[in-house]
Amino acid sequence: MTDIVQVRGLVKRFGELVAVDNVEFTIAEGETFGLLGPNGAGKTTTISMISCLLEPTEGEIIVDGHSIRNEQTAVKRTLGVVPQEIALYPMLSAAENLAFWGRMYGLSGTGLKKAVDEALELAGLADRSKERIEKYSGGMRRRINIAAGILHKPKVLLMDEPTVGIDPQSRNHILETVKNLNSSGMTVLYTSHYMEEVEYLCDRIAIMDHGKIIAMGTLNELRDVVGGMDVISVIVGEVSDGIITAVNAIEGVEGVNRANGVIEVLTPSSSSVLGRLVATLESEGAHVTSVTVIEPNLESVFLRLTGKSLRD
Ligand SMILES: Nc1ncnc2c1ncn2[C@@H]1O[C@H](COP(=O)(O)OP(=O)(O)OP(=O)(O)O)[C@@H](O)[C@H]1O
Ligand SMILES: [Mg+2]
Repeated sequence: MTDIVQVRGLVKRFGELVAVDNVEFTIAEGETFGLLGPNGAGKTTTISMISCLLEPTEGEIIVDGHSIRNEQTAVKRTLGVVPQEIALYPMLSAAENLAFWGRMYGLSGTGLKKAVDEALELAGLADRSKERIEKYSGGMRRRINIAAGILHKPKVLLMDEPTVGIDPQSRNHILETVKNLNSSGMTVLYTSHYMEEVEYLCDRIAIMDHGKIIAMGTLNELRDVVGGMDVISVIVGEVSDGIITAVNAIEGVEGVNRANGVIEVLTPSSSSVLGRLVATLESEGAHVTSVTVIEPNLESVFLRLTGKSLRD
């Protein structure tokens, strides 16, 4: 298989800040590739350089055989971009917005109409196409934003956190849309800070932090980073900083995550840590309602590599 996207030695500096720091990856044709990282990791900056919106400080990107340095028109023709910020006109209807984007891509006449109808169908919003975008919910806007990115049937779709801040129904719709586009042959670069989405969608994943790719591979390959480790998940309600410090100090604990009243503890031996963990939590005044040992996930990988939580 050919690598339809090749990123080599990519660097972006904003003054002193190195937002993207020697990033390298390739995406095979037909693959869904995930870029996972917390706020400020450099995901949008990377996507912006692939889509020719930002010039790299150093490095090279080849898209379908074309360089972003001197063949930008060809690169842009290959790409569909779904930006993190929604790019729609609130006063225009969904159909009018899509027609606008379609004309930007050089579509017209019956070709344009067909592309708009198909995109509305794909967004699941054909029946509301004449309503103004200002009347749409956040999730519906996101779905139209995605439709706008695929009007011209790009070979490669770049999606920048397309599910942030939306309702579960729209989120599921978007995830299924990405699956369908990919099975129809589209290559997808999907960025997110939700590990569940990336686990669900992506063939290969790069984990990014502070501008660097700190791990890359299939989900199973990445899980090997925490091979032999268990994750103990404890529901505790309120989690204070004191609790986290105390749990971190327990012998055999390799890392601690917290999220919404749950503590996740990474350890090579859950059986030997369990007793001390519960005792420590109780002496710190935590109210333990459930303890389970779960499979390590990308969150555990991130914790292992950076010592911090992806969700913070
Ligand atoms: N135009 C800019 N000028 C200066 N600094 C910038 C600029 N754009 C991004 N940065 C900085 O570069 C770093 C990476 O930002 P970027 O937007 O790529 O992160 P991200 O991974 O997309 O984060 P998020 O999940 O919050 O969208 C951040 O520290 C950010 O403040
Ligand atoms: Mg971003």
